[in-house]
Amino acid sequence: MFPRQWWKNIILFIMFMFTHVSDAFVGVSIGTDMTNFPSASDVVAILKANGINHVRLYDADPRMLTALANTEIEVMVGVTNQEVLGIGQSPSTAASWVNKNVAAYMPETNITAIAVGSEVLTTIPNAAPVLVPAMNNLHRALVAAQLNFQVKVSSPQAMDIIPKYFPPSTATFNSSFNATMYQLLQFLKSTGSSYMVNAYPYYGYIQGGGIFPIDYALFRPLPASKQIVDSNTLFRYASMFDAMVDAVYYSMEALNFSGIPICVTETGWPWLGGANEPDAKVDNAKTYVNNLIRRVLNNSGTPSQPSIPVSAYIYELFNEDKRPGPISEKNWGMLFPNGTTVYPLTFRSSTAAVTNNSSADGMFCVAKPGADPNSLKNGLDWACGPGQANCSAIQEGQPCFEPNNIYNHSSYAYNDYFHRMRSSGGTCDFDGTAAMTTVNPSHGSCIYAGSANSNSNSNATQPPPFPLGPTSPDGQSSILQIPATTFLFPTIILLVLAQL
Ligand SMILES: *[C@@H]1O[C@H](CO)[C@@H](O)[C@H](O)[C@H]1NC(C)=O
Ligand SMILES: *[C@@H]1O[C@H](CO)[C@@H](O)[C@H](O)[C@H]1NC(C)=O
Ligand SMILES: *[C@@H]1O[C@H](CO)[C@@H](O)[C@H](O)[C@H]1NC(C)=O
Ligand SMILES: *[C@@H]1O[C@H](CO)[C@@H](O)[C@H](O)[C@H]1NC(C)=O
Ligand SMILES: *[C@@H]1O[C@H](CO)[C@@H](O)[C@H](O)[C@H]1NC(C)=O
Ligand SMILES: *[C@@H]1O[C@H](CO)[C@@H](O)[C@H](O)[C@H]1NC(C)=O
Ligand SMILES: *[C@@H]1O[C@H](CO)[C@@H](O)[C@H](O)[C@H]1NC(C)=O
Ligand SMILES: *[C@@H]1O[C@H](CO)[C@@H](O)[C@H](O)[C@H]1NC(C)=O
Ligand SMILES: *[C@@H]1O[C@H](CO)[C@@H](O)[C@H](O)[C@H]1NC(C)=O
Ligand SMILES: *[C@@H]1O[C@H](CO)[C@@H](O)[C@H](O)[C@H]1NC(C)=O
Ligand SMILES: *[C@@H]1O[C@H](CO)[C@@H](O)[C@H](O)[C@H]1NC(C)=O
Repeated sequence: MFPRQWWKNIILFIMFMFTHVSDAFVGVSIGTDMTNFPSASDVVAILKANGINHVRLYDADPRMLTALANTEIEVMVGVTNQEVLGIGQSPSTAASWVNKNVAAYMPETNITAIAVGSEVLTTIPNAAPVLVPAMNNLHRALVAAQLNFQVKVSSPQAMDIIPKYFPPSTATFNSSFNATMYQLLQFLKSTGSSYMVNAYPYYGYIQGGGIFPIDYALFRPLPASKQIVDSNTLFRYASMFDAMVDAVYYSMEALNFSGIPICVTETGWPWLGGANEPDAKVDNAKTYVNNLIRRVLNNSGTPSQPSIPVSAYIYELFNEDKRPGPISEKNWGMLFPNGTTVYPLTFRSSTAAVTNNSSADGMFCVAKPGADPNSLKNGLDWACGPGQANCSAIQEGQPCFEPNNIYNHSSYAYNDYFHRMRSSGGTCDFDGTAAMTTVNPSHGSCIYAGSANSNSNSNATQPPPFPLGPTSPDGQSSILQIPATTFLFPTIILLVLAQL
């Protein structure tokens, strides 16, 4: 027995080396249907200040793609529904789309996916016959540009194409889409891409009309008497989110496809609604979004696919006030355009040190070059006053008094505010007069917060454990800060053992 065990270990080790399970991430989708969309550089500063490292754009806006260059942010670009038809009918249209909107920005901008259309099968069913041809044409154009390994092609679908998703084990795609779904899944399988789904427990809960407890939709623990169990598999579902994702796996299985990962391209909760939308409120949105982040970064799979992590994009960065529909439709944003969070978010900066006190070592929030001096003065006054920055170092006789001008003084105050308040939602904006930089403005004995040798920080910049990091709002530090691989490893071993 002993030698066998020994061999098993070798096999396990080798399998581990070749088993590539990428860590799950949380991204944010950026809709632009709003009155005052901030400038692209402000949006990028807001993303950075909040540690958001993955974004989904709904189009291929050149200003955003330019502003996202040379950041750590990975970008999903979108083919709009209007563009799908042309691209599906013409390989050369697809090639010029790829050249103009993807190849032109790489590698400076890290584009990793193209989302073809938005819920095409349910919103423009007539386009179903051209959907997969469009995806194929784009993929071939990427191959020609030698970008097919970096950039994956998929197409986000609504959860609605699965008419009945509970219990998950019995879920199937609406059979009127069988032909398209079959082609689509074959494409995803052969190109190593993910199935993209927009999954909204908010709507699942509302449409359930009281069948499901709200705690189930919000990832809150359920009392034993209310556990949600799939009676065919006896899997216990801790959240509607997991049930929805599993329903997609089972629907793919019904068409005999397995091994295609799922990426949730939209999910979220509205924080304001009309009189008839009582569940659209700040408290629920805060709970949903923060629990979602925790759930995803936990890196676990679903009950039916425990080894496949599920990444998700939160819908959405800002409220889109120009969207038609009920009040809730316009109130899904997590941040105001000035960079303030709508509710406390458990974000951590992309450059936060792993250990001490969620600092943003190596990042500095400074006055924008060329910003209007009067606005800077207002920002300075606000930061040193209500903002509670420690402005003693810029007083006369103190180390940061010189150079004595509004630009340098604002920079010091903005930066101090930012580092002090970041963990509780403070951002680097100041009415658009501030921006993030990695250039350390410290000089002599004038030390800016976030410097390696500033008293608040232990050491130089370390990479983040997660793209968008967790700590719970009540301040208790979270187990999720342990790098994912430490608990992924045992998971893989267990799975392999189960197969041996
Ligand atoms: C882009 O993102 C991919 C996927 O995470 C990563 O492997 C790659 O290193 C990134 N490229 C750049 C230039 O940052
Ligand atoms: C399936 O899709 C078709 C076409 O969109 C639609 O008419 C039908 O109502 C759907 N069936 C179910 C059960 O949702
Ligand atoms: C669609 O696929 C499902 C699952 O395999 C199957 O049960 C159903 O008969 C198919 N429907 C059509 C119209 O082909
Ligand atoms: C899936 O595979 C099973 C077994 O090979 C077969 O009976 C069934 O018809 C297949 N279903 C589809 C939708 O291809
Ligand atoms: C991760 O999530 C799974 C399923 O929700 C749960 O069973 C597990 O305890 C979680 N692990 C951690 C480390 O939070
Ligand atoms: C940001 O905008 C929101 C909503 O307009 C407002 O309530 C908040 O006070 C603003 N924050 C700052 C720092 O200006
Ligand atoms: C934070 O840094 C201080 C001083 O450098 C150190 O004593 C403390 O243990 C650190 N805390 C954590 C959680 O690493
Ligand atoms: C962070 O550091 C500050 C000052 O050293 C301290 O007051 C605060 O309690 C720390 N917070 C955490 C969560 O450790
Ligand atoms: C403010 O910063 C100065 C050094 O610039 C320091 O001596 C002082 O203790 C700080 N005050 C507070 C309240 O943190
Ligand atoms: C002071 O401001 C100028 C721009 O006005 C900038 O170039 C310089 O780096 C700043 N110096 C410090 C120490 O902040
Ligand atoms: C910072 O990192 C360097 C090199 O990794 C190490 O030698 C040094 O002791 C660290 N300093 C602190 C304060 O942790």
